[in-house]
Amino acid sequence: MTAVMDALLKRSSEPRLVAPAPDQSTLDKAFACAARAPDHALLRPWRYLVIEGEEALDALGELFAATCGDDGTDKERSKLHKKALRAPMVIVGIASYQTHPKVPEIEQSMSAAVGMGYLLLALESAGFGGMWRTGAMAYNPMIARGLGLDDNEIITGFLYTGSVNENKPGVPRPEQKDFVRRWPD
Ligand SMILES: Cc1cc2nc3c(=O)[nH]c(=O)nc-3n(C[C@H](O)[C@H](O)[C@H](O)COP(=O)(O)O)c2cc1C
Repeated sequence: MTAVMDALLKRSSEPRLVAPAPDQSTLDKAFACAARAPDHALLRPWRYLVIEGEEALDALGELFAATCGDDGTDKERSKLHKKALRAPMVIVGIASYQTHPKVPEIEQSMSAAVGMGYLLLALESAGFGGMWRTGAMAYNPMIARGLGLDDNEIITGFLYTGSVNENKPGVPRPEQKDFVRRWPD
């Protein structure tokens, strides 16, 4: 068993997160890990926004709440606002599509997703908890605009991170026989 395998087998997402958030030195290493994502033609088709602290998370909450529009009730707005406050830090993963004759957007999305996975694993192995979420906010053009995304960019997810308050029960893991086959039989 290697250290990486051990970290992978121990990992699981944690929704209940409190301060402290990952410190800068942990973040620096975790982003260096994210930048090891396999990347066809070295397009670097990803970037991240780190949102930390009351003021910044509150601004994210306001952005979420604004998607209700004028028809939204206070309850709906408050529900969306609270989503941003689920952790002391939210890292927004962004896929930045480049034009390339051999690398379609799907490959760039996959590279960006692998980076998110590495980032999550790195934070978890450093003792922090994390949960990758998308939901409607990830696909809402108002959110993309509010976070400063360009037309060639999409949100790959919100990585909520912080210290684990209370471990969530582990989810069942599939049996290898159910998802791996030799080919040909
Ligand atoms: C792209 C992506 C988006 C996700 N979005 C959500 C989400 O919005 N809400 C949620 O509860 N889980 C979401 N998940 C699933 C969790 O991050 C997590 O993987 C799941 O709860 C299983 O836990 P585990 O990571 O310990 O296996 C998402 C996962 C991925 C890969």
